[in-house]
Amino acid sequence: MTVVRRIRPGEADALRLLRLAALAESPSAFGATHAGESSLTTEDWIERARAGSDGPERATFFAVAGEDIVGLVGGYSPASASAVVELVSMWTHPAVRRTGVGRLLVNAVLDWARTCGAREVQLWVTKGNTAAENLYRAMGFIETGDYQPLPSDPCQDETRMTAAVYPAVGGR
Ligand SMILES: CC(C)(COP(=O)(O)OP(=O)(O)OC[C@H]1O[C@@H](n2cnc3c(N)ncnc32)[C@H](O)[C@@H]1OP(=O)(O)O)[C@@H](O)C(=O)NCCC(=O)NCCS
Repeated sequence: MTVVRRIRPGEADALRLLRLAALAESPSAFGATHAGESSLTTEDWIERARAGSDGPERATFFAVAGEDIVGLVGGYSPASASAVVELVSMWTHPAVRRTGVGRLLVNAVLDWARTCGAREVQLWVTKGNTAAENLYRAMGFIETGDYQPLPSDPCQDETRMTAAVYPAVGGR
């Protein structure tokens, strides 16, 4: 069974391995590059793991199947818009694709956003990334009509998608 849980502060090495695997396996899916993130220091990864493990500003979630970490997603609230959570770094290991792990990870960010009192979850997805576009549509995201060049490869465009988040009953 696969479960999704928040990263733990001591899991910097696992985060680095997973993130670099994602950037190597699916370079056109991300605004960041493998070369760029390979140059981050040990301290950078320790801080990323710590920041993603707790609090309402940033969250990193792992999908875990037995001993294996098989997926990753992040969320953060931009300082300029606390009612919005950005969904980033979505990746599942090729061996587990089409088994529902992507849905679990998106749900983790939607639930976390709701807990933080956000009203919207937004993301960028590379145009033509059918798997990701279909996943997000299946989870209730719609295109906003905004697009921009993909930072890691400006020959491609990425498109903006958004999903409303409804407060839990009795919540904010
Ligand atoms: C996109 C990605 C995260 C999907 O993860 P996943 O674990 O396969 O997702 P799920 O199994 O939960 O699939 C949920 C739905 O997404 C859609 N989907 C997923 N993969 C698809 C594919 N290859 N083609 C078409 N639709 C697809 C389907 O609607 C699917 O539901 P279904 O299987 O009942 O038809 C995964 O393919 C991936 O990591 N890709 C490389 C990195 C990437 O593109 N990240 C997104 C950055 S914005």
